Amino acid sequence: MKIAFFDTKPYDKPSFDRYGAEQGIIFKYFETKLNEDTVDLAHGFDGVCVFVNDTVNAGVIDRLCEMGVRLVALRCAGFNNVDMKYAYGKIHVLRVPAYSPYAVAEHAIAMLLTSIRRIHKAYIRTRDFNFSLAGMTGFDLHGKTVGVIGTGRIGRVFIDICRGFGMRVLAYDKYPAEGLDNGDTVRYVSTDELFAESDIISLHCPLTEETYHIIDRDSLAKCKRGVVLINTSRGALVDAEALLAGIKSRHVGAACLDVYEEESDFFFEDFSGHILEDDTLARLISMPNVIVTSHQAFLTEEALSNIAETTVENLVSFARTGQCPNELCYRCGNTEDCKSGRCF
Ligand code: NAI
Repeated sequence: MKIAFFDTKPYDKPSFDRYGAEQGIIFKYFETKLNEDTVDLAHGFDGVCVFVNDTVNAGVIDRLCEMGVRLVALRCAGFNNVDMKYAYGKIHVLRVPAYSPYAVAEHAIAMLLTSIRRIHKAYIRTRDFNFSLAGMTGFDLHGKTVGVIGTGRIGRVFIDICRGFGMRVLAYDKYPAEGLDNGDTVRYVSTDELFAESDIISLHCPLTEETYHIIDRDSLAKCKRGVVLINTSRGALVDAEALLAGIKSRHVGAACLDVYEEESDFFFEDFSGHILEDDTLARLISMPNVIVTSHQAFLTEEALSNIAETTVENLVSFARTGQCPNELCYRCGNTEDCKSGRCF
């Protein structure tokens, strides 16, 4: 089986080469992202392997089908970059539903602690032998209320860690998890109550039509003054302009962003010698209370190994049986939703 691998980074190759060689799968690595301009590179391959910022829209799907490419193997969990409704009956889409929820949840906590204890400032100060503590006052996490939107794999690990800090958890999920609400330290509430009561809000839901800009001007207005926002999920969950306005007005206390709405133009690349074209991103980064990492939350050794192993298993399963447990449903684009009869 020959697979065209798009948006390749140096850290992808070792684990994919290892697991691919074990199963006789040949990966041809392309640095470019998959989109309508680059799709012809997939000519002669059985499938494409793509990541979060590759584009699998109608045009790309049509061209892949014309070239006889049968498979899109996502090496990630989220699939908002794939037009699943259009893919119906045309091309099979496989994904890696979970590779390390710990990697993402721990990164969210790392960003939170860095932000509220001013570690990013301290690191720079002490390297310059500036040992002043002026402006470094943080706050305790113990006793604070954290709002968690999305209580799936990552959200639940995040909640466990927060409980270790002695925080009260208010959760919101379209499909609440059984047994999570204990009526005390963890409670499911409406989004309005979550916004009104939370000192910190962390997003762990997928990007869908419903969750697009779930954090916007209106929802921020419902939040406590000084709220800390963490987004390690998908950029378009947050209206970046509204967030910037909230930061400028001092209503938002801090933001920790691993994802950004327009990240596909910038993230994963080195723009250090260039003038950044995106004024909103540049302004957010310039703020002392905003921390941006470039979609790095997944990047642990464990996660990379699991991603490669599951992607290869998906491809092998499909090659042998024409089926794969991690194939996204043609109808709803979500295997779990499909099993519970919630296809649209
Ligand atoms: P999951 O599928 O286990 O959990 C998602 C949860 O969101 C589910 O409980 C689901 O019921 C809930 N949900 C669905 N629609 C909702 C809605 N309209 N409102 C509120 N909740 C809703 O997914 P997992 O593994 O926890 O990942 C969560 C997200 O994290 C992914 O969708 C992806 O966007 C992001 N992610 C980010 C990474 C990074 O490197 N920054 C890496 C991996 C995932």
